[in-house]
Amino acid sequence: MTLRLAVVGHPIAHSLSPAMQTAALRTLRLDATYEARDVEPRELPTIVGELRDGRWQGLNVTLPHKVAVLSLCDHVEDDARVIGAVNTLCVAGGSVIGTNTDVLGLHASIAPYEPVLRGGHVVILGAGGAARAAAAVARRLDASSITIAARDVDKAAFDPFVSAVSFADRAALAAAFARASLLVQATSATMGPGADAFVDALPLDALAPRTIVTDLVYRPRHTRLLDACEARDLVTIDGTEMLVQQGAASLSRWLGRSIDASTTDAMRRALHDALR
Ligand code: ATR
Repeated sequence: MTLRLAVVGHPIAHSLSPAMQTAALRTLRLDATYEARDVEPRELPTIVGELRDGRWQGLNVTLPHKVAVLSLCDHVEDDARVIGAVNTLCVAGGSVIGTNTDVLGLHASIAPYEPVLRGGHVVILGAGGAARAAAAVARRLDASSITIAARDVDKAAFDPFVSAVSFADRAALAAAFARASLLVQATSATMGPGADAFVDALPLDALAPRTIVTDLVYRPRHTRLLDACEARDLVTIDGTEMLVQQGAASLSRWLGRSIDASTTDAMRRALHDALR
């Protein structure tokens, strides 16, 4: 039987998942397909029903369905509950399970630096879903403390363990930057036309020389933030790595086996080619 996988969203034409997952399935020599399905909000229950009935073996879920799909799942796993969004659906014993592989993906993307990051201070820019995933990873790193920078500090108060600072409070932000072992850029600000102003306003000079910086934005791949940090000789990780690793984590769930390095290499190459 051909394994049928897909990503559902609306619109879906710009999704990078088909290129990445198709490269993985080819490397694994599986009888499997991964499609992009344009699904309007009113059609979402139908495709989730098709998954429950065995017509699909797994789905990725992207905008605008990541939150709405929660109520269509028979079971929602902890990472998806913490983030408040589902990006992966699996089916087991006729039940639809919603999960979110962003926590595993971000954790895997910084894994090479884990020994130096354990027990350190983590600064997260932004207070949306990506920031929640970053806070979950910080807890897995046994972070000594977590600071979330947000335009609206009330939005950052989703976790009693984090301290919130306003982007407008430059002194508090600089103090947090000075202690950071890891800086995670989890806003959409480095993607758009306001990227230069956003980055120029950050107290990057306060970062210690050993701070590791990751920007979860992957379009563009080399964001203005990563350029500015590389100019300061800091180690940077671009957003494509989390995208590759969350995709590998989704595939691992659907196949029920771990994904080897040559398969993730193929996914990374396909993604980098698609972004060129
Ligand atoms: P995602 O699920 O990818 O995290 P999101 O939930 O829309 O996306 O979150 C985006 C985050 O980026 C939000 O915290 C947003 O701040 P607001 O909640 O105040 O809108 C933040 N963000 C976007 N543009 C920003 C900017 N120019 N400066 C600071 N924060 C910004």
